[in-house]
Amino acid sequence: MTVKTWRCLICGDPYVGEGKPTHCPFCGAAEEHIVPAKEYKEPVVGELSDISKQNILDAIKLEVSNSQFYFCASRAAADIELKSRFKALGKVEAEHASLLSKMIGAQKPLIDINSDECPGEDNALVKESQIRESGAVEHYQQFLEQATEPRVRQIFKTLVEIETTHIELAESKE
Ligand SMILES: [Fe+2]
Ligand SMILES: [Fe+2]
Repeated sequence: MTVKTWRCLICGDPYVGEGKPTHCPFCGAAEEHIVPAKEYKEPVVGELSDISKQNILDAIKLEVSNSQFYFCASRAAADIELKSRFKALGKVEAEHASLLSKMIGAQKPLIDINSDECPGEDNALVKESQIRESGAVEHYQQFLEQATEPRVRQIFKTLVEIETTHIELAESKE
């Protein structure tokens, strides 16, 4: 196999590798959302309804908060696998905040990676991760139902898929 450039239809980030990754290394979207870079087309967002704008703003807040929680959790966790997992999730959620901001033409939000708002014990961290991911899925399902714009629907539908994999990840370690 030869090395090729790929691009994610959800976050737009490029990836270089011998094959398509199973998930976007940046936003976590599954491989069906990844295309050869030469086939990539800039997504058309179009005019947004007031409700979608508000929902995107709420989603950005949620992603910033979850990202900061995960960076805190990666420092607080004792288990080495949990530390790595939380750091990876902190980056993924920061990417979500950033791709959502792009949709409304806003600046990339600042993520405080030194936030200390998380419990100090592994089981409590896993529990909070589950609660946060379930909350995200619930909100995004609602935002998806309220959206009529194709790009907004595509984003919220994919975020529901991604955050659902995060719940599964948390459940595998109970
Ligand atoms: Fe992506
Ligand atoms: Fe997220």
